Amino acid sequence: MRFPTLFVLLLGRVLSCNEAERDSKASISGRGSTTDTRHSRIIPRGVGQSDTSNARMSPPDGAIVVDSSGRSSIPISHLTVQSGVDALDRRTNAPQILFIYPGVYHEQVFIPPMPSNLTIQGYTPDGRSYTNNTVTITQNLALINTTSDDLTATLRNWNSNTKVYNINLANTFGRAATNGQSLAVSAHVGGQGYYGVQFLGFQDTILANKGAQLYAKCLIVGAVDFIFGQTAQAWFDQVDIRTNGFGYITASGRDNYTNPSWFVINNSTIQGINSSMPAGSTYLGRPWRSFARVVIQNTFLDTVVKPQGWSIWEKDQPNTQNVTFAEYSNGGPGSTRVQQKVPRANFSGVLNTSIKPDTVLGKAFWNEWWVDLNYLFL
Ligand SMILES: *[C@@H]1O[C@H](CO)[C@@H](O)[C@H](O)[C@H]1NC(C)=O
Ligand SMILES: *[C@@H]1O[C@H](CO)[C@@H](O)[C@H](O)[C@H]1NC(C)=O
Ligand SMILES: *[C@@H]1O[C@H](CO)[C@@H](O)[C@H](O)[C@H]1NC(C)=O
Ligand SMILES: *[C@@H]1O[C@H](CO)[C@@H](O)[C@H](O)[C@H]1NC(C)=O
Ligand SMILES: *[C@@H]1O[C@H](CO)[C@@H](O)[C@H](O)[C@H]1NC(C)=O
Ligand SMILES: *[C@@H]1O[C@H](CO)[C@@H](O)[C@H](O)[C@H]1NC(C)=O
Ligand SMILES: *[C@@H]1O[C@H](CO)[C@@H](O)[C@H](O)[C@H]1NC(C)=O
Ligand SMILES: *[C@@H]1O[C@H](CO)[C@@H](O)[C@H](O)[C@H]1NC(C)=O
Ligand SMILES: *[C@@H]1O[C@H](CO)[C@@H](O)[C@H](O)[C@H]1NC(C)=O
Ligand SMILES: *[C@@H]1O[C@H](CO)[C@@H](O)[C@H](O)[C@H]1NC(C)=O
Repeated sequence: MRFPTLFVLLLGRVLSCNEAERDSKASISGRGSTTDTRHSRIIPRGVGQSDTSNARMSPPDGAIVVDSSGRSSIPISHLTVQSGVDALDRRTNAPQILFIYPGVYHEQVFIPPMPSNLTIQGYTPDGRSYTNNTVTITQNLALINTTSDDLTATLRNWNSNTKVYNINLANTFGRAATNGQSLAVSAHVGGQGYYGVQFLGFQDTILANKGAQLYAKCLIVGAVDFIFGQTAQAWFDQVDIRTNGFGYITASGRDNYTNPSWFVINNSTIQGINSSMPAGSTYLGRPWRSFARVVIQNTFLDTVVKPQGWSIWEKDQPNTQNVTFAEYSNGGPGSTRVQQKVPRANFSGVLNTSIKPDTVLGKAFWNEWWVDLNYLFL
């Protein structure tokens, strides 16, 4: 069987990724709360590479295979993603791979903590981005149906050292006045990388819960607090953030000076999901806790971004006293006010230099197994 070039590299460099159950962060409108760079590129990519070398259309030797059609040529394949996960060896330290054939998988998937590093790869003719994904995992639980945000997630990933490639994770619950939290992913622990993944939701799409996490070349869709979490150090690079309703992109739950949490969105785009999203319909973020720390830099902000940029948490509990909400070198009509040096919300600011990824992901992040440099630095 032939290995797509990228896959061999993935295997050669093996993989890695934590929630204090947060309080029921709320309804959208209900009472109470609511709703250096010494990095070097491993291989040149992009120019000169044929589509074929980026194809990931057959499972590497030893992979556990999922195929909803049951038609793959692999004699032992699993009809659901969860049964594939359940077939992984829970004792080995050796890295493992789960390969998923095209299909829409209607299920919730839980990946427990395991001693081995795990790669999950969705079948795709071109793994460099999310645009050619053929695998979708979807369900529609919300907090109204269960007892924690984590338990609503389409993918509950509790395994450190996990890389996820080319899968669409959807939570189709939609909106509700209360307890509408409905996650696409619960990235429960640190050491997780998501590459070419689509995250589709409305409220609380991505729970970046704990530890160092990387999201690159991904699509992130939502309206309310749709990138949130309490202690994670999460870096978002070349992601396309699309709003599908009025709201707030980030909701950082950093709660004191020593809490390590960062959310940095770098070299990305923020737009409405379609032209019907009104101008000024989203804030870059609001502080779930009063030490919230979010930086948006080198990013294109479309008209959907409100001139004030950043919001208080809510009227009776603004949470703005100790926040770090900052921008650096953004462009687009949603950043006109900053370009004209007219201040946004008075608890936000502008940096003189960009935040570097090692500040967020750790000093030697580029050597981490779960960091795939093929998706960074263009
Ligand atoms: C991948 O998607 C892009 C954009 O949707 C499309 O132009 C391209 O042809 C697709 N590539 C393959 C290999 O299907
Ligand atoms: C979740 O709760 C809503 C509202 O009660 C209900 O309509 C829906 O069927 C429930 N979903 C599931 C998957 O149980
Ligand atoms: C635009 O997106 C919104 C939110 O997903 C949807 O309700 C609406 O139907 C879309 N409009 C068009 C013209 O596609
Ligand atoms: C700060 O927050 C972190 C993460 O929530 C927590 O572990 C730590 O105990 C907190 N420290 C103080 C002084 O409250
Ligand atoms: C990302 O960075 C590259 C290289 O600096 C640049 O060409 C591209 O326009 C940037 N993307 C956005 C959305 O700013
Ligand atoms: C902000 O930080 C200061 C200094 O640590 C502290 O005294 C104050 O209580 C904090 N305010 C909030 C709302 O957390
Ligand atoms: C920030 O702006 C708000 C609303 O305009 C105002 O009430 C508040 O006093 C200002 N705070 C500071 C520190 O200037
Ligand atoms: C950025 O530079 C300006 C001008 O030198 C200075 O007034 C401002 O305090 C600096 N801001 C930060 C966040 O360092
Ligand atoms: C698993 O990932 C960790 C953290 O990145 C790394 O140190 C370790 O070498 C990897 N294990 C294997 C067997 O590759
Ligand atoms: C961040 O954005 C800059 C400028 O767009 C880009 O050069 C850089 O590669 C991006 N990613 C990282 C990890 O620095």
